[in-house]
Amino acid sequence: MKEAHHPRKILIMFTTNKSTKASLYLLLLLLSYILGFYTGKHLNKQNPTQLPEIHVELPPYPDLLRFRTLCSDPVPSKLVRKTILDRIFNGNSPFQSFPPAHASPLLRRKRIKGWGSTGPVFETLIRKVQPKTIIEIGSFLGASAIHMAELTRKLNLRTQILCIDDFRGWPGFRDRFRDISSVNGDVLLMYQFMQNVGYVNRTEEILPVPFSTNSALSWLCELGVYGYLIEVDAGHDFHSAWADINMAYAILRPGGVMFGHDYFTGADDRGVRRAVNLFARVKGLRVELDGQHWVIGSS
Ligand SMILES: C[S@@+](CC[C@H](N)C(=O)[O-])C[C@H]1O[C@@H](n2cnc3c(N)ncnc32)[C@H](O)[C@@H]1O
Repeated sequence: MKEAHHPRKILIMFTTNKSTKASLYLLLLLLSYILGFYTGKHLNKQNPTQLPEIHVELPPYPDLLRFRTLCSDPVPSKLVRKTILDRIFNGNSPFQSFPPAHASPLLRRKRIKGWGSTGPVFETLIRKVQPKTIIEIGSFLGASAIHMAELTRKLNLRTQILCIDDFRGWPGFRDRFRDISSVNGDVLLMYQFMQNVGYVNRTEEILPVPFSTNSALSWLCELGVYGYLIEVDAGHDFHSAWADINMAYAILRPGGVMFGHDYFTGADDRGVRRAVNLFARVKGLRVELDGQHWVIGSS
């Protein structure tokens, strides 16, 4: 009677047989060649100017995809600044009598820092769209907003830039920005943003909208304040980016463009990129890439 082979015995027999060893070696060589060939092809597709292949699963609960898509009738562009001043700042510019005496000694004369805030995508899109209103979602110290204001001025455009930010930064940001003061635990990020905007003399073009992105975006939708150009650069986790992108799209003017940073990051397909791709898939829109920036036009 033949002895039944125990799987481990089969393995040992298999690996000790010399000719089998040689075949295995050849097989391994062949496999690594094939793997290298396809990896190389795939990496070429990752070239930031081209869109990598997207595989997006739709969530099984359609409610998760539902956002408000209809907003109020548009406020005319020339009334946008006044509308924001009236509704948030009691009709006065927040830059009037700025900085207040208690904060003045705590502010740096100028402290501007951003990420990809002066990339070529800004000029490309501003030239293309000629925006009367830009809505920036996530402004921090104002680097990208100031860059956009410089560009619109250079191009002789009369553009209002609304900067939505709660000016809290993110947990842990103080480790890197110790020089931004706080008073009784309240970090002076909005004041430093305003100081920067004042320093470069762009207080007419730029206004802060100091609320959470969700509440500010639904409020602008309610008011009928739309953006010709909307930059999405606040929370970079999937859920934040997903909500911001959807809510921003509702206040994007027809023919407008929405864009944002950090399409390729360490978070890879778990954060911004996943949200952008899912959004494009749901709406049937095309994502274009410009370095680290993603760009989506209105349908
Ligand atoms: C990456 S920074 C923006 C950088 C800026 N666009 C630049 O390049 O100069 C992100 C900003 O988003 C703001 N932010 C994050 N989540 C937010 C939320 N849910 N509501 C309001 N602001 C938020 C933070 O306070 C921070 O200032």
